[in-house]
Amino acid sequence: MTSSTAVCGFDAFRQYLRRVSGIALAENKQYLVEVRLRRIMTDMGLGNLTDLVELLQLPGSRALRGQVVDAMTTNETYWFRDQYPFECLRRTLLPELLARADHTPVRIWSAACSTGQEPFSISIAAQESYHSGADARPVEIVATDLSSRVLGQALAAEYDQLAITRGLDDSQVRDYFQRSDDGASWRLKPHLQERVSFRALNLLDSYASLGQFDLIFCRNVLIYFDSDAKQDILRRLHRALKPNGILFLGASEGVANLTDLFELVHAHPGIYYRAR
Ligand SMILES: C[S@@+](CC[C@H](N)C(=O)[O-])C[C@H]1O[C@@H](n2cnc3c(N)ncnc32)[C@H](O)[C@@H]1O
Repeated sequence: MTSSTAVCGFDAFRQYLRRVSGIALAENKQYLVEVRLRRIMTDMGLGNLTDLVELLQLPGSRALRGQVVDAMTTNETYWFRDQYPFECLRRTLLPELLARADHTPVRIWSAACSTGQEPFSISIAAQESYHSGADARPVEIVATDLSSRVLGQALAAEYDQLAITRGLDDSQVRDYFQRSDDGASWRLKPHLQERVSFRALNLLDSYASLGQFDLIFCRNVLIYFDSDAKQDILRRLHRALKPNGILFLGASEGVANLTDLFELVHAHPGIYYRAR
């Protein structure tokens, strides 16, 4: 695919991607599409995006649709990203929830979990809250993503040296991971994996099958959507929260004008939203 052929069908591809994933590409993102789809286009012998979009609509193109979504999602993530959500969890939110006279699990949803660092950071924070003496109500973490490629990596719970150093210090690596036999990677210890269950879920689809949550992490994904999609997702996240449930968004994300649904809470440091 050359630059001139890439432009052919760019608008149709943008519309397709927005419809299936909510990801709204700006008009100047032809180059991004060209780079990310180059291998797929070459492998399929496709010369332009018009042909790709046509192929994607065919009933037998399920695997190709998955590959295109995998290629177009941005999966950047790291351990304890931005620190403050996990500080809030450890210091106040989890101790309060765990100490309640209630034997049902504390339920937490990581709604765009990428390769697993976010839900596993939550699991580590839960482990540390147990150590600090809170009563042991079980913690159940549901982790979802649209991309099957990242979900596969998350399920393996195995990280190379570069990924492991992004956000963890040496003592956390020693405490929470086991080195692989060949020494090249690190695997999260089983008891920290066990409270996390992964499944594929498109944030544009229904959340009804997931049940209700005490806390939702929906971080660094709404930035890719347009304002209508964001509002729709935020309204449905509100319905997925238990009364007074808590929502963490990414550091550059907010609830816009949905202040009737969410109250902003200053946590010093950081902020989160409480369902009204
Ligand atoms: C930048 S990562 C954020 C990961 C993590 N939440 C964090 O803050 O580190 C964004 C993730 O959103 C996922 N994503 C994009 N569109 C989605 C959709 N429509 N439904 C569910 N996940 C989606 C991508 O596959 C990607 O793994």
